[in-house]
Amino acid sequence: VEARGIEGVGAGALGQTASRVWVEVYLRPLAWRCLRYREAKAGLLQSPRELSPKWLYDERGSRLFEEITRQPEYYPTRREREILSARAGDVARLTRARWLVELGSGASKKTRLLLDALRDEGTLEGFTPFDVSEEMLRGSSKRLAWDYPSLQVHGVVGDFEQHLSVLPRHGRRLLALLGGTLGNFKPGERARFLGAIRASMGPEDFFLLGSDLLKETSTLEAAYNDAAGVTAAFNLNVLEVLNRELGAGFVPSQFQHVARFDAEHGWIEMLLRAKRAQRVRISSLQASVSFAEGETLRTEVSTKFDRDALTRELTQAGFARLADWTDDRGDFWLTLWSTGRATD
Ligand code: SAH
Ligand code: TRP
Repeated sequence: VEARGIEGVGAGALGQTASRVWVEVYLRPLAWRCLRYREAKAGLLQSPRELSPKWLYDERGSRLFEEITRQPEYYPTRREREILSARAGDVARLTRARWLVELGSGASKKTRLLLDALRDEGTLEGFTPFDVSEEMLRGSSKRLAWDYPSLQVHGVVGDFEQHLSVLPRHGRRLLALLGGTLGNFKPGERARFLGAIRASMGPEDFFLLGSDLLKETSTLEAAYNDAAGVTAAFNLNVLEVLNRELGAGFVPSQFQHVARFDAEHGWIEMLLRAKRAQRVRISSLQASVSFAEGETLRTEVSTKFDRDALTRELTQAGFARLADWTDDRGDFWLTLWSTGRATD
């Protein structure tokens, strides 16, 4: 793996923070394009049609996701924040971590609760946000350095399925995967991802996981069908990204956002459904894709977990649970894991 560039960010009015912020970019544009191109080709030409979630988080997609987290129906962010507000102090005491690494950090808003607690514990030195979305990551890195005057911010722009091993190793790290992001992997990929996280950890490191739990279908489906239509816009934005990056000819108004709970797999699936039969040219794949009326393209799954089953998966991957907390309604679950090896 090689870095495209190592660049400090921040200048002018942010001069004081510039020396504490740096962002490494591991996503080389060409390699990233090739990978996504191959995945898109396989997914679009197969049946049922499916896209990798990697297409959702361009700059606009990342902004729309932020807006989703503020919708009244989208409970996971609020529940997870409720747990972190009450328990970040416990996490800090149990881990005494020096460095917080957040996988899929997005805007790093809830993360502040962890940073505050680790700062109050007196152990915090630095933070590594890790995300594919470069603009988002640069923006939140600057804001955090500004708001935490002694914090080192060492951001990594990369793919957490490829670049876990390049994460900075500053003794006693806390790796966090929040927002139910683990649920966006399918079972096989999830096991591989958990194994890779475990393998990247030293004996003193910890893993903090935020997972959404199984609950009533109406609550689940409402969270992905907000009345303001933000999730629909987020889902349909994928077609704009395909048009731009693959020279595709999707007409977004010809597709409808659908999110429904699949009880067999225990996940919400996010689909785009063709309103009528159509043929879409995708120039860089040198192919056309035909959609029958009502045919769907799956853009994402969001798995809702059973606590015992998820515990078995993490145990299988080599983690040992230190603590776990839920919110008042039992909607969301925050768990803290060690590698199960002695820590001194
Ligand atoms: N942690 C935030 C954001 C969750 S959304 C929260 O709890 O609100 C998922 C985040 O993962 C997005 O910011 C997205 O850009 C990032 N992401 C998705 N796929 C990724 C990948 N393959 N590698 C790194 N980051 C990824
Ligand atoms: N990690 C988020 C989740 O599973 C991602 C997400 C929220 C999402 N809303 C979405 C992904 C809508 C695709 C479409 O809840």
